Amino acid sequence: MAVLIIGGTGTVGSALAEALGKQQAITTSRLPMDGHVLFDPVRDSIARIVHETQPVTHVVLAYGIAGVGRCAVDPDGTAQVNVRSVLRLADEARSMGLCPVFLSSDYVFDGTKGGWRETDRTSPVNEYGRQKLAVEREIGEGTLVVRLSRVIGDLLRRRCVLFDWVRASGESQKIRCATDQWFSPIAAADAGRILATLIRSDTRGLVHLAGPEATSRFALYGRLLRLAGSLGVAELPPAQPCLLSDIPSPEPHPLDTTLSIELLEQLVRPDFSPLDTTIRQVLQAPAAGSSSASVD
Ligand SMILES: NC(=O)c1ccc[n+]([C@@H]2O[C@H](COP(=O)([O-])OP(=O)(O)OC[C@H]3O[C@@H](n4cnc5c(N)ncnc54)[C@H](OP(=O)(O)O)[C@@H]3O)[C@@H](O)[C@H]2O)c1
Repeated sequence: MAVLIIGGTGTVGSALAEALGKQQAITTSRLPMDGHVLFDPVRDSIARIVHETQPVTHVVLAYGIAGVGRCAVDPDGTAQVNVRSVLRLADEARSMGLCPVFLSSDYVFDGTKGGWRETDRTSPVNEYGRQKLAVEREIGEGTLVVRLSRVIGDLLRRRCVLFDWVRASGESQKIRCATDQWFSPIAAADAGRILATLIRSDTRGLVHLAGPEATSRFALYGRLLRLAGSLGVAELPPAQPCLLSDIPSPEPHPLDTTLSIELLEQLVRPDFSPLDTTIRQVLQAPAAGSSSASVD
């Protein structure tokens, strides 16, 4: 078996490729890069790169424009990538007998409660969430749709909200953190490994893939501060608590998108790295890399 990962240079795509190993993962990028097949999801067809002789069974659509701000200011341009190209490639995969795997988001929910289940009512409050929901509704049967919450600790590419905070030390007097924004962070390596298990077991349908521990943004920064202090590795500025609505954004963010992972636990009995371990790994990683393209 082999898995084609479109967007294999991203946080989730590269973690999945790492978990699958070189024999099972074929990764693509829009840019010419060693180890990745050149592929533009908006223009190219899967048939150009997957041949009958290759044992590909799944096509993971792991690319996209995840910024709430970018989707809000350019709904049509971002929908071309996030919606239209995804649906076209999913149709093509299915017509070739391959299972499409779509990475959706906790932003399909309006954030008015927590512990969202797969069966709960969706009601996105911004364009990014609406685009994810549009794909979920149109992508068709026989697909694996995985809703992620916040992926943290991308040690391969050194990006995520934790790396952003570490990089900001020295630049800011205080770090503004919303006390009312809640999510279910998962380490990138865990997300890649558990997604690989779902794919290997040929799971289909809608599944939440998130960490077991809910946290607010403010509490997460507090843990980073505490661990940075005890490890003596970085001098981070104090947190400035605020409300999510105090942070300017072209569209609102949902407040509480913590996900229930009961179904995931029934399906694959996942193992998770403790949150403090992931934070420690970020603090001990050499500070470098590109800036985050997380949804905020
Ligand atoms: N990370 C999270 O916390 C999170 C949470 C919820 C949902 N998700 C969803 O999971 C998926 C993967 O997330 P991620 O964090 O791994 O994404 P990412 O690292 O931000 O990006 C994945 C890849 O998308 C490709 N890409 C970027 N802009 C593109 C464009 N305009 N057209 C085509 N391809 C483009 C890039 O690959 P190349 O340029 O190399 O081709 C990039 O490496 C996304 O659909 C995201 O919405 C992620």
